[in-house]
Amino acid sequence: MKKFKYSVAAMLLTFSALGLITSHSQAQSMSDAVYRGLGEKTGISKIVADFLAVVTNDQRISAAFAETDMERLALMLTEQFCELSGGPCKYSGKDMTSAHQSMKINNAQFNALAEDLQIAMEKHQIASSVQNKLIAKLAPMQRHIVTR
Ligand code: HEM
Repeated sequence: MKKFKYSVAAMLLTFSALGLITSHSQAQSMSDAVYRGLGEKTGISKIVADFLAVVTNDQRISAAFAETDMERLALMLTEQFCELSGGPCKYSGKDMTSAHQSMKINNAQFNALAEDLQIAMEKHQIASSVQNKLIAKLAPMQRHIVTR
């Protein structure tokens, strides 16, 4: 009888542990869904490369990037989008205020850049729900970036 009691307890423990593991991995798969939708780190770096190509050909904003180290910018944006989308990265660049405060960026320029990112994501056939979620993560940065 004693032995039976212990095995019931062991079974209950095993089930609750399994439940914990399952709910943990479900939570994780939901929180990195956007990251996976973007094609993870490799996909994000390809999107960023095309994004910067669109930006540097966009007459509305290209002048702002004339003196920019585009290789560093690509790395920083890849890290930033990876982290924002729930991926396993840590953005190591400047905060958005420090990075942009000397540029006197206006709303039209901000919107132009967001549009260029959408063009790049569209080119990579990213699902529109995933595109919208990344754009939604960037939207709150507008008040730090737009100073004019
Ligand atoms: C959601 C909008 C934006 C995001 C997420 C963003 C993100 C970034 C990031 C991560 C960096 C790198 C910072 C570093 O080097 O440590 C950066 C730099 C830069 N951003 Fe933005 N940016 C945005 C909007 C804009 C706009 C609208 C412009 C101009 C039209 C702009 C122009 C630049 C330039 C020129 C640099 C390079 C600065 C340098 O050479 O040091 N950004 N941005």
